[in-house]
Amino acid sequence: MPRLSLTARLAAWFAVITVLVFGAGGGILYRALAARIHAQADLELVLTARHLRRLASELDSPQGITLHESRLDSLVLGNQSYFLRMQDANGRVLLERNPSHFAIGELPKVKPSNRIVEHDVQEWRTADGLTMRGVATGIALTDGSVVDAVVGREMSGPEALLAGYRDTLYITTLCALLAAAALGYLAVRRSLRPLRDIASSAAHVTIGKLDTRIPSGRAPLELEALTEALNSMLARLELGYQRLSQYTADLAHDLRTPLGNMRGASEVALARSRSSEEYEAVLVSNIEECERLSRMVENVLFLARADNPQYMMTALDFPVRDELQRVAEYFEGIADDAGIAIRVDASGTLHADIDLFRRAVSNLLANALRYTPRGAAVSIAAHEAPEGVTVTVANPGNPIAPEHLSRLFDRFYRVDESRSNSSDSTGLGLAIVRTIMELHGGSASVESDATATQFHLHFPAR
Ligand SMILES: Nc1ncnc2c1ncn2[C@@H]1O[C@H](COP(=O)(O)OP(=O)(O)O)[C@@H](O)[C@H]1O
Ligand SMILES: [Mg+2]
Repeated sequence: MPRLSLTARLAAWFAVITVLVFGAGGGILYRALAARIHAQADLELVLTARHLRRLASELDSPQGITLHESRLDSLVLGNQSYFLRMQDANGRVLLERNPSHFAIGELPKVKPSNRIVEHDVQEWRTADGLTMRGVATGIALTDGSVVDAVVGREMSGPEALLAGYRDTLYITTLCALLAAAALGYLAVRRSLRPLRDIASSAAHVTIGKLDTRIPSGRAPLELEALTEALNSMLARLELGYQRLSQYTADLAHDLRTPLGNMRGASEVALARSRSSEEYEAVLVSNIEECERLSRMVENVLFLARADNPQYMMTALDFPVRDELQRVAEYFEGIADDAGIAIRVDASGTLHADIDLFRRAVSNLLANALRYTPRGAAVSIAAHEAPEGVTVTVANPGNPIAPEHLSRLFDRFYRVDESRSNSSDSTGLGLAIVRTIMELHGGSASVESDATATQFHLHFPAR
């Protein structure tokens, strides 16, 4: 089936509705008119028949009818479409007035004692296709004899009127159909113009012009929701695109540092001949930079994979305490070297992906150990509540200024810019924590004051 435009479809619907309304309305009026016309014709016939019966019943014999012919047939005189015939009991015609020579059928007769009503009128068709209506009645004369009378008429006049009305109805309906289709087409086309405006505005949106918005000024109310939805989609795309650009720029910037370090160290080393110890030192430092690069690439890859909606998580139930203990043990060496204690205080069961859980806690613990003063302790706690499990990593140390807190989980965000050159900072640790929590349908938060900096991981209840 060909695809019709909305305009054509609506115009066709208008046309169909118009035809239905005109057809139904006209049909009802036509039937009412036809009924009225027939009722009028029947009433005239009934009155004529009654009149004839009254005049004839005053006569004393069938011969009287022939005698008073002129009085009786004056009832239909001058009307070419009427006829009148009276016969005696033997079928002898006493009186006949039928100027148009209509064929008169055999009709059931009303008894002389019965009143003639509209219901007694009969209809028949003549051989040459004329519609006739008429009434037959018996009439009792004063001498007790009974004569029969038929009064009738031919209906072509009223029928022609009705046929004319029908033709007018057909023509009007046809005109209305054409007018509804044409005007409907124009009206719909005009009404849909805002939609075309939206399409042409949308066509101007490019990557370089994501700040374009679709104007909703004169658009009809129904389209306001559409423009709003499109505009908020554009706003989200713009923000996402800005973030992506920023991410790429930050990534390039962060990759440049270790590469620059390696190149610088190698060039300095090559500037003149060196002892093998000096070469060894350069190689060791280059390996460290390479490790940092690998870490960064690995983190970026993880974030890219976790951003993919098809990322597969394998969540299991496990005792939180055991897992936290294991992470703490892993960091024991670093903690001992820094003179920091790690305390674990946890209970309850968690439903999560163990690898991701370890990774999130490790990132928090690595940060905490970095910012805790020597001799102090980092605490890892978990508690179960009806709304879920919260894991908290807290450490004493310099508080983080409130203006940084909201951006801490952003990719490559560091409170101290100079740390971006440090070999153990990728600026992605907390971004990974946040992504892991989002994968679990939970969230990560931070609070920091003079006593401690606390990072919370909220896992929702199953
Ligand atoms: N426990 C903490 N105490 C103080 N500052 C912190 C702490 N944890 C994180 N930060 C701040 O948050 C920033 C982002 O952390 P993160 O995303 O892990 O990046 P990175 O550790 O690679 O610098 C850190 O650079 C640091 O400024
Ligand atoms: Mg970190």
